[in-house]
Amino acid sequence: MFRHIRWRLMATYMVVILLALLFLGVHLARDSEARYMAQVETGLLAQARLVAVHVRDAVGARDTTRTQAEFAGVRYPGSPSVIIVDRAGAILANYAAHPALRVKEPVHREAVALALGGKEAAGSAEVGGVRVVYAAVPVVADGNVAGAVYAGLPVVELEEQIRHIRSFVGWTVLATLLWAVLVSLLLARRIAGPIQEMQAATARIAAGDLGQRVPVRTADELGDLARSLNYMAAELERLDATRREFVADASHELRTPVANLTVAVEALCDTIPSPDPASAALLDAVGQEVERLRSLVGSLLDLSAVESGRVHLHLVPVDLEDVAARVVESFRPRGAQHGVTLDQSGPPRGVRVHADSDRMEQVLSNLLDNALKFTPPGGRVTVTLGERRGQAYVWVEDTGPGILADDLPHIFDRFFKADRSRSGRHGAGLGLAIARRLVVAQGGQISAENRPGGGTKFTVTLPSGPREAAAG
Ligand SMILES: Nc1ncnc2c1ncn2[C@@H]1O[C@H](COP(=O)(O)OP(=O)(O)OP(=O)(O)O)[C@@H](O)[C@H]1O
Ligand SMILES: [Mg+2]
Repeated sequence: MFRHIRWRLMATYMVVILLALLFLGVHLARDSEARYMAQVETGLLAQARLVAVHVRDAVGARDTTRTQAEFAGVRYPGSPSVIIVDRAGAILANYAAHPALRVKEPVHREAVALALGGKEAAGSAEVGGVRVVYAAVPVVADGNVAGAVYAGLPVVELEEQIRHIRSFVGWTVLATLLWAVLVSLLLARRIAGPIQEMQAATARIAAGDLGQRVPVRTADELGDLARSLNYMAAELERLDATRREFVADASHELRTPVANLTVAVEALCDTIPSPDPASAALLDAVGQEVERLRSLVGSLLDLSAVESGRVHLHLVPVDLEDVAARVVESFRPRGAQHGVTLDQSGPPRGVRVHADSDRMEQVLSNLLDNALKFTPPGGRVTVTLGERRGQAYVWVEDTGPGILADDLPHIFDRFFKADRSRSGRHGAGLGLAIARRLVVAQGGQISAENRPGGGTKFTVTLPSGPREAAAG
């Protein structure tokens, strides 16, 4: 999955966003909690001050009953626990709205001591295993500190609030994250989409489809890349057209002189009825070279004809078996001469295809020519026909040396000859290139592989033709 740039981009965005959100979430939760606690502290301080003013006279008189009575008369919001002490620290009143929340001895002594010293104190601390937010203020009567009021709110009360803050922050982070997933998915697609499009187009261009162009969608670097790619494809197309024209023109121009040469060599042989051995060998060599030249020019003309679409196919129902038999028979003498056995087999009722029989003969001839050329004496070349799921197959197998794995992808290229066949064997490297174009033009495919036991196996596939209409 992470092989795709889209997912990698997306993962990067997500990691960055997640880290930022985590930091923000934790910070927000802490900050909100702290603010809330500070607010509670301020509220407690205000309440303690209110109580201190109310009970000032009773505390000044150190009257427990009066202090409690006066304290009970104070109305204040919330339900903090309140402890009122006299100047010696003795408790005059100890109140809690709920018994479970009563702040027991010892009260937060430091805060009380500070208040008795005339200073206000507020904060939060552990009291008896419970976390308490507290505020302590002095009770001032006649300008002197007469005692202190301590108000504390156990955090149990606040926990609900804090939970609420945390869940709020949590949900906000989650919603933002989902939103971020969506946005980063779109963003990653926007960047990776054109790249994938260009990659696919480049692969098609490399495979020979030079008419490929990609849409220029943006005005950024990706747009520039698309433009450059289109420019490159256009240039390649132009060069390819020039090359084709050149091959067509050159082979056309060569045809007449080569034909004249063939005739001249034949005439020369006739005019010298019994040449001496040296002249005979020379004449033979010249004859062979002229023949090679003639076949090369023929191949080049064929290639430029198929490449430019000038080959007119007569697609009719054909029995492949007959085509193969004709080709095999025509190669039998050469097989016998090389000591290579030629075999043909196929289903009893034949293999019908919709094809041009002359062109299919040409394709099979190229394959058999190679097979015979590369198979050493004593070997075997087998042509097998078959039909499977609407496809007709021809397999041409030999017991030759096989093809190097590195060469396999290139053997259908123009002028390609494997290194091991470069020396000694004659051929321009055009046979398979022509064969492939002819098969593709008829709606089929051709491929090659090495046989496990040694030798090569070529497979030609064509769509099966209508059985009843087959004329053979
Ligand atoms: N049956 C085979 N066994 C081993 N190698 C093969 C076989 N068929 C093709 N090749 C390899 O593929 C190359 C290309 O084959 P192709 O038929 O296109 O060219 P060629 O036979 O060398 O020349 P041409 O067909 O133009 O006379 C050959 O040169 C050879 O290296
Ligand atoms: Mg060949």
